[in-house]
Amino acid sequence: MTVPPRSLVGKRILLVIAGGIAAYKSLDLIRRLRERGAEVRVVLTQAAKEFVTPLSVSTLSRGRVFVDLFDLTDEHEIGHIRLARDCDLVVVAPATADLIAKMAHGLAGDLAATVLLATDKPILLAPAMNHVMWAHPATRANMATLAARGVGQVGPESGELAEGESGAGRMSEPLAIVAAVEAQLGAAAPLAGKRALVTSGPTHEAIDPVRYIANRSSGKQGHAIAAALAALGADTILVSGPTRLPDPPGVAVRAVETAREMLAACLAELPADVAVCAAAVADWRPATAGEAKLKKDGGAPPALALAENPDILATLARHAHRPRLVIGFAAETDDLIAHARAKRDRKGCDWILANDVSTGTGVFGGDENSVHLIDAAGVESWERQSKDDIARRLARRIALRLNEAA
Ligand code: PMT
Repeated sequence: MTVPPRSLVGKRILLVIAGGIAAYKSLDLIRRLRERGAEVRVVLTQAAKEFVTPLSVSTLSRGRVFVDLFDLTDEHEIGHIRLARDCDLVVVAPATADLIAKMAHGLAGDLAATVLLATDKPILLAPAMNHVMWAHPATRANMATLAARGVGQVGPESGELAEGESGAGRMSEPLAIVAAVEAQLGAAAPLAGKRALVTSGPTHEAIDPVRYIANRSSGKQGHAIAAALAALGADTILVSGPTRLPDPPGVAVRAVETAREMLAACLAELPADVAVCAAAVADWRPATAGEAKLKKDGGAPPALALAENPDILATLARHAHRPRLVIGFAAETDDLIAHARAKRDRKGCDWILANDVSTGTGVFGGDENSVHLIDAAGVESWERQSKDDIARRLARRIALRLNEAA
């Protein structure tokens, strides 16, 4: 039997268990955190008591379990403010749609919500809910609010859900949550001391001061990769074209508009240990973008002459200060693997992640992707999963590669 690393010795975790079927997994989470040396205190919501008992939680955590805000004995022994602050990290697992909404809106009607509002410590959420609830615009907006406040997130995973439906909403497995806890506490920061450069989003290429050429990239994939690299401890720079996304936590963002600005911003950040080019950079720009708006004067429509943009990925791959690992994406609509392989050779990157962006795949702008990692050794196909999961898997692969003997 493998002995788990004592990576969390001396760390104090406040675990908030909300009322969802995934609460049963939190019992295993307590065990996994404790066997790594963490001290675990638990707050149960009233609804969580329907899924796990305070007795089983206190037996596993070897401590008191806190449920009610107005339990005078609790307040006498340890007030809710101290409970909220006497820890290194607050983990919410499962984080239900209800508790996420309370957090986003600053509600404090019960002990769990009060502790989450009163804490000055980092918070990590492990969401779990039905896939329609997870995709609901209200939940999306609440998660964006919390992400913008620096609240961390692990999962949810895609797969079969308790109600028999399937989709994104399953709580991450306890070991994945432990890994996120370790990363958040710097207990396992395999990319500490490494510098990562990520490009994301589309570029806008001006036709005139009013109009521009763009594409359908939302930046979700590139931003998720930057967040995942930062979560593993990398000093991460995200060079992003125009998107509607909040800045990922712990990442330095350089906002640009055009391909030429993106290249200049990337070159200014060298040297780096790894570069991941996930941006959908316009291959061409209007050759002459004038100062004045083009006028519709009743004549023939103007012809749009195009000039080629610099290739950022190829430039980084051939640069004198080339990052040790250069990774590109290939967005294809046909002959995916063959075209991606040719692109990898032509641009000189180490790995290329091929994704099918044909209409109907929902990859541009969607929350999920399906990629094939191509390197010198061959092709590895990853199952369709959330862009966040792809980012975390890729970040772990990058950490393994960069930590191999040079
Ligand atoms: O942003 P999302 O909505 O989440 O969608 C994600 C995505 C589909 C944009 C992403 O997964 C993706 O595939 N990104 C690359 C898009 C692209 O431009 O692919 P390409 O096959 O045209 O380019 C190949 C590679 O060269 C890419 O790494 C690209 O960043 C890079 N490139 C391309 C042109 C250029 N002038 N400079 C570049 O660096």
